[in-house]
Parts: sequence; structure tokens; C-alpha cells
Amino acid sequence: MLKGVASTTVNKLLKAGFTTIQAVAMTPAREIAELVGMGSDTAVKVCRLARMHVDPGFVPALEILDMRQHMVKCNTGSQELNRILGGGVETGAITELIGEFGSGKTQICFTLAVTAQQPVEEGGYGGNVCVIDTEGTFMPERIMQIAEERGLDSTKILEGILIARAYNSEHQIILINSLPELVEKSGIKLVIMDSMIGHFRGEYIGRGTLAERQQKLGSCLSKLLRVAEAFNISVVLTNQVLSTPDTMYGDPNKPTGGHVMAHACTHRVFLRRGRQNTRLARVIDSPSLPEEKIRFAITAAGIVDADEE
Ligand SMILES: Nc1ncnc2c1ncn2[C@@H]1O[C@H](COP(=O)(O)OP(=O)(O)OP(=O)(O)O)[C@@H](O)[C@H]1O
Ligand SMILES: [Mg+2]
Repeated sequence: MLKGVASTTVNKLLKAGFTTIQAVAMTPAREIAELVGMGSDTAVKVCRLARMHVDPGFVPALEILDMRQHMVKCNTGSQELNRILGGGVETGAITELIGEFGSGKTQICFTLAVTAQQPVEEGGYGGNVCVIDTEGTFMPERIMQIAEERGLDSTKILEGILIARAYNSEHQIILINSLPELVEKSGIKLVIMDSMIGHFRGEYIGRGTLAERQQKLGSCLSKLLRVAEAFNISVVLTNQVLSTPDTMYGDPNKPTGGHVMAHACTHRVFLRRGRQNTRLARVIDSPSLPEEKIRFAITAAGIVDADEE
């Protein structure tokens, strides 16, 4: 696997789930030492060797452009929503769906779990989907309905989705750690995390625990971003809003997770309820997209343009 690393060390790494050089390179040495149960010197050495294989350090901007040209964009179901996302949900990035209850976060995830499995020529990623469900809201029946309404084989779609229910934040972290291996082994092109912060918010209560919570959250998010970039896949997270009634200007509903969340997510989509089954979406804080508000609708077929319902 890696030149210069003893076979016993390689076996230990394999046993701990590090089946690829990428996975080793993407994990901090401190964590490898902990997960594999090896000395920190060995872990640092293994990490450095692995990074020599996969991480060239500084690269010409042209190479980044080339990487971005390999990026695939997935259809959300709504052309308007695709448009404000610059064509759809990007690979190599984290897309965050933010909104209050019933704003359509989970419905967008369900629709993406179907559309992402379509071939690239048809607006998908042509790959499988993995869902980490922290709220117990993942409904296979609803996925089937969306697939059938779109004229697709619903059994095949369900076969292409792997679900894990995360029961608490520690469990969620274990599941995140297992992603590099799973993504490679199961041909995953989209990872859905619905929701990212729910457990963290529920478990770390009170000011004294905030720093620890944010540190753990940050570590999870950086792992997710590394998976997205290393495998050129897409990560979609959902996030709730916190009402801050003392806000003088702008929207009193703020995304939870603070700066840690804001910095980690490449694209942030703010969702709000509109009239009847319509919803409003706005892309906020994007490095490359203008801020614009659009309308979409939630129907039996999942997410569609508002005028199609
Ligand atoms: N089969 C369906 N047909 C039409 N609309 C539906 C259907 N199923 C759900 N919806 C709509 O989706 C809404 C729920 O949206 P969603 O589950 O995405 O909310 P959410 O943003 O994930 O909220 P939460 O924060 O509670 O998880 C419902 O209020 C309903 O209007
Ligand atoms: Mg939901």
C-alpha cells in the first residue's frame, strides 16, 4: 500500500478502516494514532508518506480550474433553484440547506437522493447516495413516490441509497469517520446529513460547553469537506435556524452553528415558507454566486419549479 511503511502498520491501518492512501492522507496524524492505536511518531510518518502520494501542496490555478471543470452539478428538481446554485448541487463542495421546520430541507434531500442517481447526461451524478439521518425523518415511501412520479424504477432507486441512523453526536462522528471507506467501496456520489447540528445542539447545553461543541462540529465539517474534495463527491447538510428577536435589521432567523458552520460550507441556501406549497430560496455568502431569491414548490414529485405545480 505505502512504500516505507511496515506491513504490520499497514495491517493495523486496514483493520481500523483506512483502506486507501487517500483516507490516511485526509486524516490528521493525531486522529490516526488514536483510531489505529499506534505511536504518534509512526502516525506522523505514515501521514506524511500518504500525503506525498495524494497532496501536491501548492498547485497552479490552472489545475484548480481543471478540477472545477470535472465538477458535476446535480439537478435539484427545480430549474430556478439549480440556476441560483450555478447549475445545481456541486461535487467537491458542501451545500448547506438552512431553514425553519417545514421549509423543505428534507424534501430537497429526498429529491436529490433520487436525481443524483440519474446519469450525468440527465442531470445526476450517476452514483449512489448515502444518508446520515439524525432525526429519524428519512421516509423510504416518500423516496419511492418521488421516483415513481418522475417515471423511475423506485426499487432501483431505494437500492442505491444507504442509510444510517445516528443516535447521538458521538455516533454521528463514527459514521462520518467511516465515510472515506464507504464512499469508495459503495460508489457514493452524494452524502446527505440531515441534520448536521441537531444532536450537537441537544447535547451541549449551556455556555460552558459551547467551545467544545464548536470544536467537534468544526472537526466533523472539515472531515466532510475533505471527503467531498478528495473523492469529488457532493455533501449536502441541513441546518435549523435560531430566532433572534432582538435583531433590528434583516432576517431575525439566523443559521445555527455560528462561524464554524458558515466557514465550512461552500454554498449556503436559505429556505423559507411561501404561499401554499411554495417555498422561497436564497443563496447566501457564496464565493461565486449572486444573491437572488427564487420560488420553488413541493409536490408529489418532490422539488419542482413553482409554476409547474
Ligand atoms: N408528498 C408530498 N406532497 C407535497 N408536499 C409534501 C409532501 N410531503 C411533504 N410535503 C411538504 O413538505 C413539508 C415538509 O418539508 P420538510 O420535511 O422538507 O421540512 P424540513 O425543512 O426538513 O423541516 P424540519 O426542520 O422539521 O426537518 C410539509 O410541510 C409538506 O408541506
Ligand atoms: Mg427535515
